[in-house]
Amino acid sequence: MATRKVVLVGDKSLRKVSKPVKEFDEGLWQLLDDMKSTMYANDGMGLAAPQVGVLRRIVVIDVNNMFVELINPEIISSEGKDIEQEGCLSIGSFRGRVERPYKITVKADDRYGYPFTLTGEKWLARCICHEVDHLNGILFIDKTLDKEKYLKQGGKL
Ligand code: NI
Repeated sequence: MATRKVVLVGDKSLRKVSKPVKEFDEGLWQLLDDMKSTMYANDGMGLAAPQVGVLRRIVVIDVNNMFVELINPEIISSEGKDIEQEGCLSIGSFRGRVERPYKITVKADDRYGYPFTLTGEKWLARCICHEVDHLNGILFIDKTLDKEKYLKQGGKL
């Protein structure tokens, strides 16, 4: 496993829509392993492939000591509302409140291409929503209730 460089806000790869994964091969497994070590090396709760400059629909997360790989994730249901502060490895030290669903169910493929569903509440739901946003070129600073504060301190979008 190798760590990869995390790209920061301002980099255009963070604003692109990532493409679905079609080949569940060694190249994918290497990327997943690298994303896992990159996330842990940076104390992150989640990492999306565009954050390491790869425009593919791939996410790794670790919430409540549960590591999960999501390939081609799709949120198929959501309910409730929850507001908490979020951060992002691509943003730096700024943290801001974001409203997210309290509970979601996501459908995804595993690293071998087998589909599964996962239901999560609170931080697991939040983390999945945040990472799926990355695959669509959306950052939490777009959605934060504290956007004015972020812009006032010179934050880039
Ligand atoms: Ni992020």
